[in-house]
Amino acid sequence: MPPREPFPELDELVASMGEAGARISEIDASEAGAGNISLYLGWDLELRHRFPQREEVELPLPAPSLAGHTVLVTGSGRRRRQIAGDPLAVPHLLPPVPAHPSTVAGFAGLARALAADRAGWAPLVRYDATTRWYHRLRTGPGYEVWLLSWVPGQGSGPHDHGPSSGVLTVLDGELTERSPSGVRALGAGAQRVFAPGYAHEVVNDALEPAVSLHVYFPGLTEMPMRPPHALACTPAHRDAPSLRTSSLG
Ligand SMILES: [Fe+2]
Repeated sequence: MPPREPFPELDELVASMGEAGARISEIDASEAGAGNISLYLGWDLELRHRFPQREEVELPLPAPSLAGHTVLVTGSGRRRRQIAGDPLAVPHLLPPVPAHPSTVAGFAGLARALAADRAGWAPLVRYDATTRWYHRLRTGPGYEVWLLSWVPGQGSGPHDHGPSSGVLTVLDGELTERSPSGVRALGAGAQRVFAPGYAHEVVNDALEPAVSLHVYFPGLTEMPMRPPHALACTPAHRDAPSLRTSSLG
């Protein structure tokens, strides 16, 4: 089924490639030979924050239908189980299973595991109509996990996350995310992965309270607010003016 707008961001796609590699490995479908995972994208995508180097290569066969589009391919000649966890890494040996995540896919997996543990987070949630409520759920080497609640009408305001990458997972209710790439309705279970400098605004436009889980790596040290027009244009720029630092979102 083709994806519908707004399309996924690069980091979400990379995380999904890692998940695909992990799943292939889990079900023991990785054969003895080497292989890779390829992803064809029929829409424009900002690649430079993950792939700053450019080099022209000649394809072994003409592929006119790919012209102007993007194909993401994990390292050639790698066994699929090596792709598990981090399609950006090129390990020489299979890494040990980490006690803490250290990859985008690993942090997305941690968020899903914590989200599934409803008994672990639900009793902690508080709702505060006067100010945004947040609670630090966990810290680890190079990352933090926060639990946030949103009563109807509460929102973060437009902001970025400084040098931190992040994973936003909706646990309960529905949130609306506005970013330069569009407006997304995020229901329970929806997940967003973003890179440093990514700008967005998160709002509870629904009539019921919402709860979300946020993993930041490295831990959030600043959350510069952006002017409202920063979300109306194409890719937010890290040098856009900062107004102030606000609460989490
Ligand atoms: Fe945010």
